[in-house]
Amino acid sequence: RVATDATWPPFEYIDTETGEIIGFDIDLFDAIAERADLDVEYVDVAWDPLLAGMAEGTYDAAISSITITPDRAKNMNFSHPYFTAGQIITTLKSNTDITGNETLAGKSVGVQTGTTGDDLATSINGTDVKRYDEIGLAFTALMTDQIDAVICDNPVAAGYVAKYDTLKTVGEPLTSEEYGIAVAKGKEELLAKINTALDALLAEGIID
Ligand code: ARG
Repeated sequence: RVATDATWPPFEYIDTETGEIIGFDIDLFDAIAERADLDVEYVDVAWDPLLAGMAEGTYDAAISSITITPDRAKNMNFSHPYFTAGQIITTLKSNTDITGNETLAGKSVGVQTGTTGDDLATSINGTDVKRYDEIGLAFTALMTDQIDAVICDNPVAAGYVAKYDTLKTVGEPLTSEEYGIAVAKGKEELLAKINTALDALLAEGIID
């Protein structure tokens, strides 16, 4: 049972035509499963219960653009890193006063609750952090002028900017974060299998 919060395109999201969970992470885990000979059932679960469920051993593993952090590593094991991302600010093209994180004081900033984007926005003094269960809701709020900016992982922001002509990202990513596959504590054999397969996929350039 592999948990994912399928609200994070292009890494994990729902194909609106088929209703299936698709994306980079699903392709990657499918490739790992094939090499490690694992039978996989993906479980679509919201972000908060995903992290809580991993801590409680509800799922065997999770692949969900999860940034490896020391705090999370207390409750779950992580595979070797497979992707580097960073937090980036998205705002409306028409906005001229947001030019970097030092310009976010007094501004309202949308994030997905409990993500590293939430952590970063919360650490910026004077910012009014608006927390959403899904990042899509934050982007909708931005495009309907309810908030001033969104902070999230740069691949997600790039997708929204490519799709919606009124949006732009601001500057360079503000952090450097590594994604890892989370594996429940105690499942060391599963972790080793995943790492072996992942290392081979990395070495073969398949992830590139
Ligand atoms: N990389 C960020 C973090 O680990 C956000 C991940 C959110 N993933 C998702 N599927 N909603 O906090």
